[in-house]
Amino acid sequence: MIKVGIIGVGTVGTSVAQILKENADVISARAGVDIVVKSGVVKNLKKERGLDIVITDNVDDILNDEEIDIVVELMGGVEEPFEVVKRALKAGKAVVTANKALLAYHRYELQEIAQDKAFEFEASVAGGIPIITALRDGLSANHIESIMGIMNGTCNYMMTKMTNEGVAYDDILKESQELGYAEADPTFDVGGYDAAHKLLILASIAYGIDAKPEDILIEGIENVTQDDIAFAKEFGYAIKLLGIAKKDKDEVELRVHACLIKQEEMIAKIDGVMNGISVVGDKVGETLYYGPGAGGDATASAVVANIIDIARSGKSTPMLGFNRPMEGSQLTLKLTEKIESKYYLRVNVSDKAGVLARLTKIFETHNISIETMLQRPSDNASANLLISTHTAVEKDMQNMMSELEALDFVNAKPSMIRIV
Ligand code: NAP
Ligand code: HSE
Repeated sequence: MIKVGIIGVGTVGTSVAQILKENADVISARAGVDIVVKSGVVKNLKKERGLDIVITDNVDDILNDEEIDIVVELMGGVEEPFEVVKRALKAGKAVVTANKALLAYHRYELQEIAQDKAFEFEASVAGGIPIITALRDGLSANHIESIMGIMNGTCNYMMTKMTNEGVAYDDILKESQELGYAEADPTFDVGGYDAAHKLLILASIAYGIDAKPEDILIEGIENVTQDDIAFAKEFGYAIKLLGIAKKDKDEVELRVHACLIKQEEMIAKIDGVMNGISVVGDKVGETLYYGPGAGGDATASAVVANIIDIARSGKSTPMLGFNRPMEGSQLTLKLTEKIESKYYLRVNVSDKAGVLARLTKIFETHNISIETMLQRPSDNASANLLISTHTAVEKDMQNMMSELEALDFVNAKPSMIRIV
């Protein structure tokens, strides 16, 4: 019998305990051994969990329990779980986590500490979709050319409701929290950080890139307005928060931001809490992974799959997929300022003579070419200019945005969405 200890019995932890019990027949048959949850750790002992396992508020009760074979970390955070999982590995236990924030900062140290001990993290990216297994094992024969997709269920749920039903941003964020989709601090979702954590994990497996969130371009959906959504609809786009990793010769660009994406693209059609990730390999071509990106049961499905896998074999393939660095073809992170894209801009300007001429002159001086422009009056004295550009360089765009913000006829900080 394999015994499991769950550190963090919240949305996902509760589902893990329930699935291991409710699906015990198929799980034990697949694992070849019975798997039971011995105990769980929480912060607040007074909260009712509805589970028939021992619940404590002391991690030592699991870490020092010699009967526990697998520690499942589902408490969230970065440094506290780092200490917990290090202790678990050093105590000879296998570890399963869904914690992408932990991995975004400490995955290489954990790989070093884990060595041939099992350390699995399927649920850390795209909830219930087995994208880690697909990338690390199923596509291991390929050089990965790109990874692009919807990696945050909360943002996709919010953007879908804002687009299709015109629901207000704050209302829909609250609903995402109630549904168990959002992180404990939802600014991680709407600010793009959660998707960035996931992208960094995928980039390590695809490219062996050891980057931290601070090294890459991260923007969220906080500034997307109904004006932007209306522009997108008018020009045949959907707005999605995407994580993008792209190989360009010996560099890899990594970025997370809201994107305008043509409505006919498959990723544009992925709505609600669903995630969808396209991975292009040099030999396989494009592969697409789709499924629920957040929520207790969907995420726990991936956690339990890792537990079963460990129960079957006892050890892991190399945690991040590489047994040694690639000789002679190490990839490096592309500087954010060199990234190229098409852009959409929303600029609120005073509605008076000469404004357009001055504005377009500034575009010209920054070498940015306008593709389309639409003017929408916002009140008697001002108008929103909704502009899309041809391909431009990020550094030129950032410089131009700063210059636009300082102009006397620009009424508010201009906002920008990249076009994929
Ligand atoms: P959650 O509902 O907030 O649950 C966290 C659990 O950890 C709670 O039971 C909490 O105790 C416990 N906890 C927190 N700090 C603790 C501490 N210092 N000592 C002991 N227990 C502590 O979070 P969740 O949504 O289940 O997410 C858990 C992890 O899975 C996070 O890393 C998250 O990023 C990841 N994840 C979540 C989803 C999702 O859809 N929710 C999807 C993929 C990955 P109390 O119950 O007493 O507060
Ligand atoms: N908060 C995350 C999301 C949970 O909404 O995608 C799944 O990782």
